[in-house]
Amino acid sequence: MFAKRMTNIQESFIREILKVTQQPDMISFAGGLPNPKFFPVEAISIASDKVLQEHGYEALQYSTTDGYRPLREYIAQRYADRYDLTVSADEILITNGSQQGLDLLGKLFLNPADKLLLEQPSYLGAIQAFSFYEPQFIAIPLLEDGLNIEVLTQAVKQHQPKLSYIIPNFQNPTGATYSLEKRQQIADLLIQHGGLLIEDNPYGELIFEGEPLSPLRTYLGEQGIMLGTFSKIIAPSFRLGWVCANRKIIAKLTIAKQAADLHTNYLAQRIIYQYLQDNNLDAHLAVIKEAYQHQRDVMLGMIKQHFPAEVSYIKPTGGMFIWAALPSGYSAQAMLQQAIQENVVFVPGHPFFVPDGGENCMRLSFSNTSPADVETGIQRLGAVMTRFLQDDVVYF
Ligand SMILES: Cc1ncc(COP(=O)(O)O)c(C=O)c1O
Repeated sequence: MFAKRMTNIQESFIREILKVTQQPDMISFAGGLPNPKFFPVEAISIASDKVLQEHGYEALQYSTTDGYRPLREYIAQRYADRYDLTVSADEILITNGSQQGLDLLGKLFLNPADKLLLEQPSYLGAIQAFSFYEPQFIAIPLLEDGLNIEVLTQAVKQHQPKLSYIIPNFQNPTGATYSLEKRQQIADLLIQHGGLLIEDNPYGELIFEGEPLSPLRTYLGEQGIMLGTFSKIIAPSFRLGWVCANRKIIAKLTIAKQAADLHTNYLAQRIIYQYLQDNNLDAHLAVIKEAYQHQRDVMLGMIKQHFPAEVSYIKPTGGMFIWAALPSGYSAQAMLQQAIQENVVFVPGHPFFVPDGGENCMRLSFSNTSPADVETGIQRLGAVMTRFLQDDVVYF
């Protein structure tokens, strides 16, 4: 009954785990959710009233596929202010979250068996979105400072991928951030060999330390496609994101989007824009970053104290995730069952790997857990881990 392309599509593993997190007394490091405590509910309420009272008849009408022009201009201006990167509002298409950007880009570029290069591990939602177009995934190991350049160079030479996909800032799932040097090296390689690069950046604004590094688009020019979103900086339920790419790509994407949904929720676009006009986004971000940074610090401190010494982990400088690895041979999935018994839950690493790998790894999210729960949860997890590793059983 179903199309062939449905054969390899898995239901999101994380959705399954999230069911467990509903149990009372469960402490969850599983979901990649922003902390609702910082949703600007009051300011959004005021912005909504204003839009409806002042522009109600227009805001409730159908609108253009490319998105509300002033919002696109705001996004272009933010690239200029933040990264000194000049893009035009004509190079921005508003999408239904950056997730839709991934789907539309897959639709636009991927024929079955086309080569798609991506990080190993990568964002589950991207793997899922691209899988519908049946590409051949070329997975490149991701290190703490970006892709493994030797492996990447080999792969680019051998496969000449049409499309590459990376998350250069506070990556999901690892929290890793690309060094400036690697950004330049990757751009040089793609300029030399051709191919488009999608850089997905939902977490770049959630930076705790240092200065933001240039997007690869700075070096790549029109070979670079950027995805952005308001999900992690304002609220995900708006489902507002964008694709920034050269005009030719935007024109084709606009056709694809038209067929998909005519346009992104126009009322939501107007409300977000009103909110951005009347409020200081940087002040709002400062509050979120301070809280997340504190939660990260508490988590790192507790990990140091309670995880066995042979467990390694990456210290992120922003974002929402810490990536930890048991010694190789131990299965994080098997340990998860024991963790659930102790009322603590995380996401095991293997679903983030195509075609496979990461069995000993796990993703711990610190964004949506209070410092007190981070303390209790990591203490519980440390005890589970200590027992699990003493067990002396190698699981895979
Ligand atoms: C790397 C990455 N890309 C894209 C998304 C999708 O975000 P949204 O569709 O809410 O903009 C997420 C969400 O967690 C993500 O982690």
